[in-house]
Amino acid sequence: MSKLQQHWETVFKTKDTTQVSWYQEVPSTSLELVNTYARGKDTTILDVGGGDSHLPHSLVELGYTDITVLDISKAALSLSKSKFIESSSVKYVNTDILEYQSNQTIEVWHDRAVFHFLSKDSEKLRYKQKAIEYLQDDGVLLLATFYKAGGPTMCSGLEVCRHDQESILALFAPEFEIIISFVEKHITPSDKEQVFIWNVLKKKK
Ligand SMILES: C[S@@+](CC[C@H](N)C(=O)[O-])C[C@H]1O[C@@H](n2cnc3c(N)ncnc32)[C@H](O)[C@@H]1O
Repeated sequence: MSKLQQHWETVFKTKDTTQVSWYQEVPSTSLELVNTYARGKDTTILDVGGGDSHLPHSLVELGYTDITVLDISKAALSLSKSKFIESSSVKYVNTDILEYQSNQTIEVWHDRAVFHFLSKDSEKLRYKQKAIEYLQDDGVLLLATFYKAGGPTMCSGLEVCRHDQESILALFAPEFEIIISFVEKHITPSDKEQVFIWNVLKKKK
């Protein structure tokens, strides 16, 4: 098991996931963005580093039928899975996103607070290569990272690489274009403010 996987297994085995800094009772921005950019309820959606988020459950409630939750932590996926009575609309994949392999292409790729853990250029490039490989042409990448101007420098005890619109464009162009960028303030369960930047990127044909 890699050190990174060990870290996340420990987090999900020892912490109350409603008290972790990234917890959201309702992932409203994610839901709004999926609703805006999904072609229909059968859109193929990949939630990268989905953890124990409420997103897949909310998407199923809204009628989405093709959701894949990917996470490096088995414990996170078990927690998420245990909340479903019926989950035929949701698949779980336990892998590091940098090692992801699949026969399926994706229309909407969602990543909240995962990409910012990648610090090396080689890792960021590999992530982009995975998005190019698995996203359909015109597919969208909904990407939320801590913001360069004011976002935290650590998350879950790990250093993060903060971004802004320019750094995301520099990394993802020319294969992707940015449709919109906006800053969002997230209030953690311990009442601290975290500044995120969302970038919606479209894979060019
Ligand atoms: C800060 S949490 C965010 C969870 C979720 N996206 C949310 O917004 O509630 C980061 C998640 O990404 C997972 N993760 C971290 N690095 C990963 C990687 N390289 N590949 C896949 N999952 C990863 C962790 O296990 C954890 O569930």
